[in-house]
Amino acid sequence: MTTPTYLNVGIVGAGVMGRGIAQVAAQAGSRVFLYDTNAENLSVARAAVLDQWRRMVEKERLTPAEAESLATRLMACETLEALRDCDLVIEAIVERLDVKCELFATLEGIVAADATLATNTSSLSVTAIAASLRHPGRFAGYHFFNPVPLMRVVEVVAGLRSDEATCRKLTQYARDMGHRPVRAQDTPGFIVNHAGRGYITEGLRVVSEGVADFATVDRILRDQVGFKLGPFELLDLTGLDVSQPVMESIYHQYYEEPRFRPSVIGAQRLAGKVLGRKTGVGFYRYEGGKPVVPD
Ligand code: NAI
Repeated sequence: MTTPTYLNVGIVGAGVMGRGIAQVAAQAGSRVFLYDTNAENLSVARAAVLDQWRRMVEKERLTPAEAESLATRLMACETLEALRDCDLVIEAIVERLDVKCELFATLEGIVAADATLATNTSSLSVTAIAASLRHPGRFAGYHFFNPVPLMRVVEVVAGLRSDEATCRKLTQYARDMGHRPVRAQDTPGFIVNHAGRGYITEGLRVVSEGVADFATVDRILRDQVGFKLGPFELLDLTGLDVSQPVMESIYHQYYEEPRFRPSVIGAQRLAGKVLGRKTGVGFYRYEGGKPVVPD
């Protein structure tokens, strides 16, 4: 294995995204320091990554010795200070500007002055988050997709004050992880969540106008048009707690442009915690992790 661009990588937030990024970062050869304010999420995340490696051994994609060595490179950390020697810290916490800004301001007091800092935000302005930093040049967006080990694209997002060298290093590290980086400028939704908005919002509009039900829309777009997932399968996979705020954020950042207007269907389901796979019911109902397709 070649030496990775970043030897010690901190990941803040051990949820769906943080644990996926932790897995691919360790597989790239980095030592990974995973931190979360919620101790239970942290231990569940580490166990989930170890389980992924166990499955990879079963499928003969890793040897038992490689899995063991990977496990020694994934550290669950009880404090943010444990990330002090990291040369890269990737943030994957709650999608709130104030909370992210507070975290980065604190992180700057912990890591070395030349450490790279990155956010996995899917909809907030990288430039706005950078306003909390004394050294914004070392900071950029690093937008992974769920599930991280399978979804190879990573958007490397340059904020107005990001240094080119920072973006270049992050781009190289994405390659180290076996991912396919793409450079984007800091605009609402970047590339994928901007261009992909139409897929989701128009799907919701088709259903709210009674043109067809959601399962039909999914079936046609998946089986006939060739998308891997229909818009409602995708919403269920991501979870409306993640998708709805993204839709609202992009809509507001574009000054309420009608083409980005989110659907009341999403807002209602979010309020009712009908979120998707993670709650066992979304547009589909899930039994044993599998969707029950309505007749
Ligand atoms: P999640 O809810 O699964 O995990 C977030 C984790 O962050 C939780 O374990 C929580 O305890 C922890 N956390 C919250 N505030 C914290 C703080 N101040 N310090 C340390 N830990 C803290 O969320 P998920 O889905 O992993 O999303 C994380 C970020 O990634 C968000 O910015 C989201 O927009 C972005 N994202 C999510 C995608 C998805 O499909 N879920 C795709 C791409 C980006």
